[in-house]
Amino acid sequence: MFEPVEMGGLRLKNRLVRSATWEAIAAPDGGIDEAAYGIYDELARGGVGLAITGFTSVAGNDRSFGGMMRLHDDALVPQYAKLVDMVHAQGVPVLAQLALGGFYREDGRRVEPDGMTVGEIRRVERWFVDAAARAKAAGFDGVQVHVAHFFFLSRFVSPAVNHRADEYGSSAENRARIVCEIVRGIREREPELHICAKVNSNDFTPGGLDEEGALELCRLLADAGVDSIEASGNGTSVAGVRAGRGEAYFAPFAKRLAAEVDVPVMLVGGLRSREAMQRVLDETGVELLSLSRPLLFDPAFPNKLQSGELDESACISCNACYSSHQHRCVFGKAAKRGQTPNCQMEVTCQQN
Ligand SMILES: Cc1cc2nc3c(=O)[nH]c(=O)nc-3n(C[C@H](O)[C@H](O)[C@H](O)COP(=O)(O)O)c2cc1C
Ligand code: SF4
Repeated sequence: MFEPVEMGGLRLKNRLVRSATWEAIAAPDGGIDEAAYGIYDELARGGVGLAITGFTSVAGNDRSFGGMMRLHDDALVPQYAKLVDMVHAQGVPVLAQLALGGFYREDGRRVEPDGMTVGEIRRVERWFVDAAARAKAAGFDGVQVHVAHFFFLSRFVSPAVNHRADEYGSSAENRARIVCEIVRGIREREPELHICAKVNSNDFTPGGLDEEGALELCRLLADAGVDSIEASGNGTSVAGVRAGRGEAYFAPFAKRLAAEVDVPVMLVGGLRSREAMQRVLDETGVELLSLSRPLLFDPAFPNKLQSGELDESACISCNACYSSHQHRCVFGKAAKRGQTPNCQMEVTCQQN
């Protein structure tokens, strides 16, 4: 877990990854300031081997979520370069998670994949490639293309959403075409960027991607040239997981994926204890362990695991951080004092 690893042009000091976590912290134009820098500085100092930013929209008019970071405009590059510099100062590589929440036309109307023209699909592809070029200009080591959690690309590749009859629909290969063209476009424009894709192992939606469909998608992404794949799923942040209870809930899929594709696989979802994490590394072929909520609870969790101060995260997976200010752990202060949230706190959280 704590030995250096090289993959796709990156050198990581350990196998722990900060999974993309939306901080709801950016201005409407995507600008970021000291609040964001503080979060990334703390994360980098906390000991992760690789950091992935919260979802960063490739479009200026994407208003799917509040406080999204954005890389749709060259003018934003210096602000993101400062974030990258802070993370690099701790010897940690960083990927920008590039995402589109939804596709909005100039008139503000949101359009689903079935209603888009081929010209609009190609425009979305250009947005991703242009945003990747801005990420490179800002100094990011790579990008993660967000094809999970029913964000736009994840809906596009899902047979439950995409009913197109043209070259962008009607078969697994055609539904994946937009993502593969984005991956090839980024590779051509910025050959040195690490390209990761975050995917759903299962849409958990009637008629959507099941594990077989997700494996087929990942094979196509590997052929298109991704350097790594992070295995997630709709309903990503399962509630109630704790050390020893319901951990590593996408591990069965990730194990199948690691056996199928020739690129490193990251597993995210409910990793809480040293024991479960080590078991994943030993038994599944997964090479990287990705964490979100445990790092909201305590960004120094990796350092504490490494030093032996902790063997597990005390995050109780209550998901209250989804609705808190800047998505901070509601037990942040308790975490810093080393206290474990008690049952009363959990009840309050679940009611929220
Ligand atoms: C507050 C919050 C924000 C999140 N934002 C993102 C995001 O921007 N992009 C993404 O792919 N996943 C996001 N996730 C999902 C996490 O990356 C992760 O997949 C999920 O929480 C399961 O991992 P965990 O058990 O380590 O938290 C978010 C999760 C939380 C709790
Ligand atoms: S609020 Fe804190 S304890 Fe609850 S899921 Fe979020 S990080 Fe974990």
